[in-house]
Amino acid sequence: MRISVIGAGYVGLVTGACLAELGHHVLCTDNDKSKIDTLEAGKLPIFEPGLDSVVERNRQEGRLSFSADPRAAAEGDAIFICVGTPPLPTGDADLSAIDHVAQMIAVEAKSDKLVVEKSTVPAQTGQQLQRVLGIYGRRGGVRFRVASNPEFLREGTAIGDFLHPDRIVIGVDDEIAEKQLHEIYRPVLEQKFKCPVHDGACPPMKPPAWVVTTINSAELIKHASNSFLALKISYANMVSDLAEKLGANIEEVMHGVGLDPRIGPHFLRPGLGFGGFCLPKDVQAFVRLAERNGIDFAMLREAERINHQRITGFVEKLRHSLWVLKGKQIGILGLAFKANTDDIRFAPSIELIKKLQTEGVRLKAYDPQAMEKIGEQFPDLICASDAYQAARGADALLIVTEWEEFRNLDWKRIHKSMARPLVLDGRNLLSAQEMKSLGFEYHSVGRPDLAVSSSAGALA
Ligand code: UDX
Repeated sequence: MRISVIGAGYVGLVTGACLAELGHHVLCTDNDKSKIDTLEAGKLPIFEPGLDSVVERNRQEGRLSFSADPRAAAEGDAIFICVGTPPLPTGDADLSAIDHVAQMIAVEAKSDKLVVEKSTVPAQTGQQLQRVLGIYGRRGGVRFRVASNPEFLREGTAIGDFLHPDRIVIGVDDEIAEKQLHEIYRPVLEQKFKCPVHDGACPPMKPPAWVVTTINSAELIKHASNSFLALKISYANMVSDLAEKLGANIEEVMHGVGLDPRIGPHFLRPGLGFGGFCLPKDVQAFVRLAERNGIDFAMLREAERINHQRITGFVEKLRHSLWVLKGKQIGILGLAFKANTDDIRFAPSIELIKKLQTEGVRLKAYDPQAMEKIGEQFPDLICASDAYQAARGADALLIVTEWEEFRNLDWKRIHKSMARPLVLDGRNLLSAQEMKSLGFEYHSVGRPDLAVSSSAGALA
């Protein structure tokens, strides 16, 4: 079966590369010619661990190719739609790219097609897709089968998530579509492929659950999953605020809570809130979808409010320590919305930078991967070449993304170089005990502050 993937963003590129890794012949298209030129030059337009080698190997072995002409995608027997569905000012998902692609497929298709929605879309999008394909279809006798196959890939671990998923959700209307998708995913279902994540030496993996539903249900599963994850994070953030007031430690609390299998240990990490291109926009779109169907999803709106509040609260914490913010020199460590990605879309760092700039603070920022992207968004932002430079002469250092390399910095050196050894750790990356012993004034999220002992200054 020839497979096409339309949209070579995070989802499309990982999907295309991994489908090729499974042995399929895949054509990835994107109407952004510069992106395709970059890919054809053997480079990646995004940073995703492990993706470069998967793309390169499959290109060389002739299973993966690229085209800047989306019409070329209509040659595929199965077409995965991975175009963006960004939020409109109303909070609804903008489905214009999906509409456009559907019209193009309808016009160009010369044989039967399996059209798979992979982008996150509101329930009932599949029905609209089927309608558009029918209305714009030019050739009689061409049959379009629509399926929903939501992605659950996390940036930073997307390759592993694709090849070793917990579940593969398939929303279909007929058996042939299900059979075709089963064939496409057979190597994943049987866990029979040379795993690039573990370099072939993959520990035996549990086969994923194969979940077959209606198209509407599959679409709803995706939105309901991401929104539930957002709820968990906002809940953990509220409990962490309370833990801080009561002198409890949120890590101990959530460890105890997460051991209940009905709750589970994941997505209970407090911090600066959820960001990225999925959770914030999917929650917004889900609230809007509910609203348009006469349901007030107040619980989710509250999760969003709590999420926005995280940055305001963080700035207030900084003010509490520094008293006056105006004119202070602040270092920012981490700009990506989470570690192991260069993605800054809806990252907490964006809101934080805007707020601190309004306060008249002098900023110097560093991230191991996101410097280029932040420079496009904030051309005036002073960027440091490494974490040490961001810290030098600063009145405070803020940890905004949980990059492992920040944990392993020479904090003694940083202590010496700062104007005032104050660290606000928005991700609970460091040990309060160790920071205290180095003489830092250190505040984290939902964990008790430890007073700096008078002898600690001797280290400086
Ligand atoms: C998410 C979903 O996890 C994935 O299934 C979906 O398909 C796409 O969206 P992603 O956006 O890559 O993936 O990141 P994820 O790891 O889910 O984190 C989302 C945000 O929540 C990040 O900003 C992260 O820092 C934050 N988060 C996550 C927390 O604040 N606390 C947690 O405990 C977990």
